[in-house]
Amino acid sequence: MNKFLLCLFTLLLLKAELHAQFNIIPQPLEVNSTSKGSFNLSDKTQVVFKQQGLEKSASFLNTYLSQFYGFSLKQSKTSATQGIYLSLNNKTGKTTESSKITESSKPAETNQTTGNYSLEVKKEGIFISAATEEGVFYGVQTLIQLLDPNGKDKTLAVPFVKIKDEPRFQYRGMHLDVARHFSTVSFVKKYIDYLALHKMNYFHWHLTDDQGWRIEIKKYPKLTEIGSKRKGTITGFLPGNGNTNIPHGGFYTQEEIKAVVKYAADRYITVIPEIEMPGHASAALTAYSYLGCTGGPYKVQETFGVFDEVFCAGNEQTFTFFQDVIDEVAALFPAKYIHIGGDECPKTSWKKCPKCQQRMKDHQLKDEHELQSYFVQRMEKYINKKGKSIIGWDEILEGGLAPNATVMSWRGEEGGIEAAKQNHYAIMTPGNYMYFDYAQTAKRDSLTMPGLTTLEKVYSYEPIPAALPAESRKYILGAQANVWTEYMNNPSKIEYMIFPRMSALSEVVWSSKESRDWTSFQSRLKQQFNRYQLWNANYYKDALENSSKAK
Ligand code: ACM
Ligand code: ZN
Repeated sequence: MNKFLLCLFTLLLLKAELHAQFNIIPQPLEVNSTSKGSFNLSDKTQVVFKQQGLEKSASFLNTYLSQFYGFSLKQSKTSATQGIYLSLNNKTGKTTESSKITESSKPAETNQTTGNYSLEVKKEGIFISAATEEGVFYGVQTLIQLLDPNGKDKTLAVPFVKIKDEPRFQYRGMHLDVARHFSTVSFVKKYIDYLALHKMNYFHWHLTDDQGWRIEIKKYPKLTEIGSKRKGTITGFLPGNGNTNIPHGGFYTQEEIKAVVKYAADRYITVIPEIEMPGHASAALTAYSYLGCTGGPYKVQETFGVFDEVFCAGNEQTFTFFQDVIDEVAALFPAKYIHIGGDECPKTSWKKCPKCQQRMKDHQLKDEHELQSYFVQRMEKYINKKGKSIIGWDEILEGGLAPNATVMSWRGEEGGIEAAKQNHYAIMTPGNYMYFDYAQTAKRDSLTMPGLTTLEKVYSYEPIPAALPAESRKYILGAQANVWTEYMNNPSKIEYMIFPRMSALSEVVWSSKESRDWTSFQSRLKQQFNRYQLWNANYYKDALENSSKAK
């Protein structure tokens, strides 16, 4: 090795060392340790901010401090002797407006993000500034990670540091299936906090499926009266070795939904509701059997997989039903997106149904895939008229993509690639990397879906597919991990399945490609384990030992 290379190598090592010392996940863009020393954070410290909106960040910090360290800080508008200063500085960074995706201004390079911030800890105080409120919020998340997770006394030494940071992708998401197993509002809020602590900004809420309809729709009360309850659940892996015969149910009232949406918005997280159509319909059909091709009988499913009972695409009442449902859903969720599912819709009943066949003749649809596309496009038109856009699983490509749809690529990356080539936005959630219902160790430590997605596999994920032509890369909005709960029937199991993989995901979607480093991540993760413990969250403790990539 020549001298120059040796020097470069040492510098890189030093840089990695410096980053590791601060143990921040996701890895910020720039971390500089300016001088030795620390700022003492205690109940004498005040949070100082003047601009409206920043109280959300101050209040998140205070809740965290009081929950995990037993003290909170006074908030003030004027400078304090010991202060954490939060400020909006519109002169630096990107503004919220410039990041908006509009028809006339498609994102230029990959995609534009908001949320950049700077944080400085020095003798005089802690200074967090950003162009946007969410930027300040992310600065607070980084500050939280500078606090010793083992610190039990009421004075926390925050090391001097200068950080500049920005997210790589504008869509940084986690999904949660509450249909296979219901999660309480309180756990959903905790899950949203986990997202916030990882600088994620989308929560995809899978609200309806064969095993339960979980959102109150006032015009169709039987959806929850009947559709939210099942008589039991299989035991063991599909097809199961028995049945619990224990009724399982639960749903969210519209008031609860509003509270969750606000809770998320206070953490700069957008909630995307998923209302499945035209498949995964058993729970809804059990409540309103006229919506199915055969008229039933139907049941809220006690087992998992894919079922032939789907919404009838030939019956006008199906569209009336979904338009009514969308009216209520659109009013509850301010998100620009509504996810309409679209996955795993067998065509068996449509093939036999005179109404579906008639629809195909009337509209000269050559096969049932085109009928599904007709269904989705018709719903898209309705949703677009309400000023919203649809997201669908990648099956919505089959039979022709709806004109303004965003595709969630789950059966590998092909769906995302195809969508982007057709100038449609895509969110990458490929099963082999982003399915947190798959096992995280080859040792098969608990009942899971059969796939294997180790921590290192998650960490290695690159959301921009290599096969994508350069000009189409801007259509990849980001990535998301999916948490299907067939084999997760309690919060502790959900935590076990998401941690530490969610921490790896946060780096995939937030950190610059250049700063991603598996060795450094492993070292920083050790401190993250201490944070999980501080949060009293369950996690896979052997992830660092048993996490090498799947064979
Ligand atoms: C899916 O996993 N069925 C989207
Ligand atoms: Zn039909």
